[in-house]
Amino acid sequence: SFSADGSFGDFDFIVVSNRLAVDRVVDEHGESSWRRSPGGLVTALAPVMAKADGAWVGWHGAPDETLEPFDEANMRLVPVPLSAEEVELYYEGFSNATLWPLYHDVIASPEFHRTWWDSYRRVNERFAQATASVAAEGATVWVQDYQLQLVPKMLRQARPDLKIGFFNHIPFPPLEIYAQLPWRRQVIEGLLGADLIGFQRPSDASNFLRCVRRFKGYTIKAQQVQVPEGDDGVPAYASRAEAFPISIDTASITELAQRPDVIERSREIRRELGDPQHILLGVDRLDYTKGIGHRLKAYGELLEDGAITVEDAALIQVASPSRERVEQYRILREDIEGAVGRINGTHDTMKNTAIRYLHHSYPVEEMVALYLAADVMLVTALRDGMNLVAKEYVAARTGNTGMLVLSEFAGAADTLRQAILVNPHDIDGLKSAIVSAISMPKTEAMRRMRLMRRQVVHNDVERWSQAFLNALHAGSPEHGA
Ligand code: G6P
Repeated sequence: SFSADGSFGDFDFIVVSNRLAVDRVVDEHGESSWRRSPGGLVTALAPVMAKADGAWVGWHGAPDETLEPFDEANMRLVPVPLSAEEVELYYEGFSNATLWPLYHDVIASPEFHRTWWDSYRRVNERFAQATASVAAEGATVWVQDYQLQLVPKMLRQARPDLKIGFFNHIPFPPLEIYAQLPWRRQVIEGLLGADLIGFQRPSDASNFLRCVRRFKGYTIKAQQVQVPEGDDGVPAYASRAEAFPISIDTASITELAQRPDVIERSREIRRELGDPQHILLGVDRLDYTKGIGHRLKAYGELLEDGAITVEDAALIQVASPSRERVEQYRILREDIEGAVGRINGTHDTMKNTAIRYLHHSYPVEEMVALYLAADVMLVTALRDGMNLVAKEYVAARTGNTGMLVLSEFAGAADTLRQAILVNPHDIDGLKSAIVSAISMPKTEAMRRMRLMRRQVVHNDVERWSQAFLNALHAGSPEHGA
């Protein structure tokens, strides 16, 4: 059966992700409407959507609410409902307390619960059904991220006519860690339903292929997996795993960085901090993968040592609220806020604060003003699929000044080679990286930033999506998206 009523849908290009591409906004009269989400993925795919009769399938963010499909921002939006219990078991549970920590090098301990897995399967089935019912014959479907790893196989079973791509935005772990997952075979089978499986780094793709070999025993040649005919009657086919490092909408960040009001705001931020010699900046979702604690430890020790003072330097740490009902995130918040309090309590004066800690999210204009105000950007993730903040900082530095301290455990380290690369576990190494960043001669800093800017200007998110979609269609020109 092709869809619930056995017929094809109307859409030739469908993106499927846990979160829908629009956010609900409520105006002063209490009227709610939808606005396109600000993220790079949505920005990159919106033009493809408009051109190709596109639909986006995803959860609209509220529990226990069923919405009819609607049109907005030149695309069809297809909301997938989640009950409050599914939010707890599928989203907070299996997605964010099992897969997230497992795929990020078990920085926090993953929890394995059969009830969470059952819910994950059921919700993936619902996403697959919703997708099958809107997809035209021969349509291209692009499934996004770890929340939906079973969707490719479910879709292939329901709709063998579709061209199916999958992109994993987070790392794929080494076999020795992945092996812990009680449902390791089912997840691999789910992903292998796609014709093309994209990863951030070449190492993620090779980790995945090693797991395929070990847990499924399939033949692999040059990143192609030969999937044999299944018990479900799905004929044999080839599925390919390859790296496609994601990027940002470089042009829009550059444009903001040149807007007079944004530049003025960056000067205002500097003034409000008392015009210190050095402004350092961290911008992260408040997540244990981001290495915020390691960063604070290094910074606190530099103050302790007298290598920097609160008069000369200010650290702004933006930590945007995230997954606040998941226990590990609550614990992290306590830890980070405790550390900030201790450092500030020790080093602050009536006039100066060591760390400006902001538990908020901000509009992109304010983020770019912060990037412009910051002499040094600190990205110290313990594990990160890519880290787009690093790329945004580089894109915003149109004058080629400023320095990026970047963890080698972030995917961005593959391409931003001129950053000061660090192992954030090495606190002494991190401290000297911060000192080098602060004291780097301007000509050397500018040489490095120029090369990094060239990278992100050339490789933006549109190029990323084109590369993926071209690879997906390579060899089958009749399925152009
Ligand atoms: C990461 C994931 C995304 C996720 C985002 C925000 O970037 O790769 O899939 O949407 O974090 O997390 P949230 O749980 O709020 O969707």
